[in-house]
Amino acid sequence: MESYKRLLINNKVWAEDTVKRDPEFFHRLEKVQRPEFLWIGCSDSRVPANEITGTQPGEIFVHRNIANMVVHTDLNMLSVLQYAVEVLQVKHVIVCGHYGCGGVQAAMTNNSMGLINKWLRNIKDVYRIHKHEVDGLASEQERFDRMVELNVQEQVYDLAKTSIIQKAWAHRGGPHLHGWVYRLGNGIIHNVCEMEAGSEMDPIYKFTNL
Ligand code: CO
Repeated sequence: MESYKRLLINNKVWAEDTVKRDPEFFHRLEKVQRPEFLWIGCSDSRVPANEITGTQPGEIFVHRNIANMVVHTDLNMLSVLQYAVEVLQVKHVIVCGHYGCGGVQAAMTNNSMGLINKWLRNIKDVYRIHKHEVDGLASEQERFDRMVELNVQEQVYDLAKTSIIQKAWAHRGGPHLHGWVYRLGNGIIHNVCEMEAGSEMDPIYKFTNL
């Protein structure tokens, strides 16, 4: 059997099982989505937002890209962010990275890989900002792990720098921002950083006329 056909068969089984467990499940979701969370995660197939958080369809609004980046010129990410924050009014935005991230690893090399160089350059900038700390770590593994954490932290800061987040903080006291890192080896999520609504940031990034 062609491997993709398994997906369609699984889908039928899943839909039937779901209705058996909860006859109104699809009727409810058909009408409206009210997720409390926006998830900005890595595209890596091993880090699926719903499965690792034990959540169901309808609970998390998801954006994924290579190395869970918040790049302030990325219209795709910004559109998702604006919709989630202003229309869905999510309470929490989570940036979730993962140890062993191929994107972070690639950014730490000097290899040219074509188009993706432009994307990975944003991660090299994270390294440049934290070079002193990262270079002070003893092993390559420690440096790699720390870069994954620092990358998540910088993406959370980058969210806070957007007018979308700052406007929502000023007008409705939310959403709260969270930086998490998932460990592929044991399935556990570690909390790296948090920014409550209204948190301080470098003043140069703060808009005062929102
Ligand atoms: Co990754």
